[in-house]
Amino acid sequence: MDICAVVMAAGKSTRMKSKHSKVVHRVSGKPIIQWVADALVDAGCLDQVYIVSDQQEEIRNCLGENVAYVLQEEQRGTGHAVMQAAPFLEGRDGAVIVLPGDCPMVSAKTLEKSLKVFEEAGEDCAAVIVTADADDPTGYGRIVRDGDGNVLKIVEHRDCTEEELKLTEINSSMYIFKTSLLLSALGRIGANNAQGEYYLTDTIGILIGDGYKVAAAKTDFDDTRGVNDCVQLAQVQAIMNRRILEKHMRNGVQITDPGTTWIHCDVEIGNDTVILPGTTLMGNTVIGHDCIIGENSRIECSEIGDGTVVDYSIVTQSTIGKDCRIGPFSHIRPACAIADHVTIGAYVEVKASTVGEYTRARHLTYIGDSDVGKNVNFGCGTVTCNFDGQDKAGCTIEDNVFIGGNSNIVSSVVLGKDSYIAAGSTITRDVPPLSLGIGRSQQVNKDQWVSEKSRLRGENYIRLDDKRSEV
Ligand code: UD1
Ligand code: CA
Repeated sequence: MDICAVVMAAGKSTRMKSKHSKVVHRVSGKPIIQWVADALVDAGCLDQVYIVSDQQEEIRNCLGENVAYVLQEEQRGTGHAVMQAAPFLEGRDGAVIVLPGDCPMVSAKTLEKSLKVFEEAGEDCAAVIVTADADDPTGYGRIVRDGDGNVLKIVEHRDCTEEELKLTEINSSMYIFKTSLLLSALGRIGANNAQGEYYLTDTIGILIGDGYKVAAAKTDFDDTRGVNDCVQLAQVQAIMNRRILEKHMRNGVQITDPGTTWIHCDVEIGNDTVILPGTTLMGNTVIGHDCIIGENSRIECSEIGDGTVVDYSIVTQSTIGKDCRIGPFSHIRPACAIADHVTIGAYVEVKASTVGEYTRARHLTYIGDSDVGKNVNFGCGTVTCNFDGQDKAGCTIEDNVFIGGNSNIVSSVVLGKDSYIAAGSTITRDVPPLSLGIGRSQQVNKDQWVSEKSRLRGENYIRLDDKRSEV
C-alpha cells in the first residue's frame, strides 16, 4: 500500500505565547516536530509533507530538505491546512497518515497499530482515528459514537452540547485516511462553527454520511498528548523524561531521584553508574560504566569514561577519560580532551585544552587553549594567561611538569618535560626540560623592621596578643 504522511505545523501557536512556532520547542532535547518526523520514519513512512506558515524557516532548520513543505498562507483551520497538501495527494490511491505537528509523544508503535486497524477494517473503511480516554478531556474534540459503538463524528470542545461535553474519548488529531476519500471530503467541509475555521474533524462525519465506516484505534492518553501552551509542554516533558529515566534504570543505571534528574533522549549510560539528584544530561552525551554523576551536575554533548566521578560540575562538548575526578565546582568548557586518571578539582576551569593522564589541577586554576602532558601538577591558583587583549593562544606544558601555587603561565610558552615552576612565578619565556623556572622578584628580609618602625614613631613595640589582653 502507498503510504505517505501530512503533518500540520502551520498553526499560529497563539496559546504558547512564544515568538517561535510551538513545534520547534524541545522535549527531552529534541524539537517536537522532530519527534513526529522520527516516529513516521520508524513506522516506515519516509514520504512526508509538512504544512508550514511563514515561520517555516525554523521548521526547515530542524527537519532539513529530505521532506516536502507546503505553505499555508492564512491559518484557517486544520481542514484548510490539509487542503494545502492536495497537489501532493492527488492521484495517489493508498493511505495517508495525518498528524498534528504538536504531538511529541506519537510513537511508531501507535502508528503501526493504527495502520493495522486500517488494513483489517476492510474496503468500506474510509479512516482510522487514533483516540484515547482522557481524565480531563477539556479542549479536545470528542468522539461521538452510536448505540452500537460505531464512530459517528468528532465534535470540537467549543461546539459540544452538554451531553457531548461529558464524553471522555478524545480525538488525538492523528488519523489514517484513504487518500482519495480524504480529498473528496475536504472539498465539502465548511467553516460554520464556533471558531469559523475549516475543521479537519468534519471530514469524519462527511465520510460516514457517504456510507463509509470510520474505525477508532484507542491508545494510551499519554501517547497522544498535544502541546498547546507552556503548561502542556511541561507536562509532556515530565512524562517523556520519566520514560527515558525508566529505560536507563531498566538497563542498570541507578537514578537516586528521578524527580530532579533530566536526561535527553539520545544520552547513553553504562550500567552500575549512579546519577545523583539535580543532574541534567544533555545532547548526545555518553557516560561509561561505574561512574558517579552529580549531585547537581550538567553534562552536555560530552563523553565520560568508565569509573569517573563528576561532582557539582558542568561539562560541555568535551571528552573525559576513565577514573577521573571532576569537581566539586569544576567547569569543563567546550573542546577539552581530558585523558584517564585526571583530577580537576574545586573552582578549576578548563577550556579548549588537552590534558594528559594522571595530571592534577586540584584547586582554583584556569587552563585555556593549552596542551598539557601527563602527570603534571598545577599548584593552587595557576593561570594560563591565554589572551593578549586581541588573540587567544595557549601554552604547552610537557609531561611531569610541577607548577608551584599562584603561577601565571603566559602564552605561548613551553614548559619542558620534568621542569619545575617556582610558586608565585609569572613565566613569560620557555623553561627547558629538567630546569627550574622562577619568574618573580627575589625575597628580601628586613631584620627588625617592625620594632624599628615603632621606635621611629616614638612608641614601644607591643605584641598583638599583649594588646588583646589589655582590652
Ligand atoms: C485539534 C483537533 C481536536 C483534537 C486536538 C488534539 C481540529 C479542529 N481539532 O485541536 O479535535 O482533539 O487537535 O490535540 O482539528 N494547524 C495548521 N494550520 C491551521 C491550524 C492548525 O497547520 O490553520 C496545525 C497546528 O500547528 C497544530 C495542528 O494543526 O500542529 C493542530 O492544531 P491546533 O490548533 O493545536 O488544534 P487543537 O485545538 O489542539
Ligand atoms: Ca493541538
